[in-house]
Amino acid sequence: MEQFSKILAAGVLSCAFAPLALASGNVNNGKALLAPDGKFAVCASCHGKDFNSPITDAYPKLAGQHPDYLAHALRAYKRSANLADGRKHPVMNGMVAPMTEDEMDDIAAYLGSLPATIETHK
Ligand code: HEC
Repeated sequence: MEQFSKILAAGVLSCAFAPLALASGNVNNGKALLAPDGKFAVCASCHGKDFNSPITDAYPKLAGQHPDYLAHALRAYKRSANLADGRKHPVMNGMVAPMTEDEMDDIAAYLGSLPATIETHK
């Protein structure tokens, strides 16, 4: 039992000190990146112009989702499929490849600031 407590404590501590991907992005920069003339204009072609009306039901709505969740998701696609905590998706793995850390946070902040039809409890 004591052994178990030690393992538990170590786990809790390592979580507490793990580098946090805090979504402290810049909303305006994220908006510019996703705009029709932005570096990542392509995103709207699947997720919808308002990021709330994806072109098929199989594509997720992004508007109003928690920014920290979105930033985490983008990083997971970037870490890619080969890792246990990566996300494998041929399209999204390619989409995030040219994104910087700041761009992921800015995009997440902007998407999270948009009006949502998904239900979120912040
Ligand atoms: C060709 C269509 C397409 C394009 C273009 C596209 N996406 Fe996606 N996106 C998808 C699909 C399909 C999924 C769901 C993938 C999965 O199941 O993991 C997804 C998932 C996501 C997710 C995860 C959502 C969640 O709820 O977990 C985020 C965030 C995201 N996309 C952001 C973007 C951004 C930012 C761009 C532009 C750089 C982009 N997408 C471009 C189709 C697309």
